[in-house]
Amino acid sequence: MTSLNVTVVDKAKDTEVAFDAKSDQPVLLSIRSVVGSPIPVGCKGGGCGVCKVRVLEGNFSAKRMSKAHISEQDLEENVVLACRIIPETDLKVEILAETPEEDKS
Ligand code: FES
Repeated sequence: MTSLNVTVVDKAKDTEVAFDAKSDQPVLLSIRSVVGSPIPVGCKGGGCGVCKVRVLEGNFSAKRMSKAHISEQDLEENVVLACRIIPETDLKVEILAETPEEDKS
């Protein structure tokens, strides 16, 4: 297991936040333990689609993703579910799912 870095870009909020991530677990599981994870967290198993992101930089392996949430075109554009990808290198991802106007805290 290697420790990697995942940078999450939120264009709506104009922020970039870096997280430690593990090379043996999905990106979302690595960063969800951090308070204020910027990627929306839902089912954590590929079933709800709220954790959709676009990978801007880096390599990853992907577990199976439902076509209900990720189309062939999405895959061609590096759009994936954060709970289904495992980083192989440092990654930079952009949040695509809509987030609430106000943070719930
Ligand atoms: S958290 Fe539900 S698909 Fe990723």
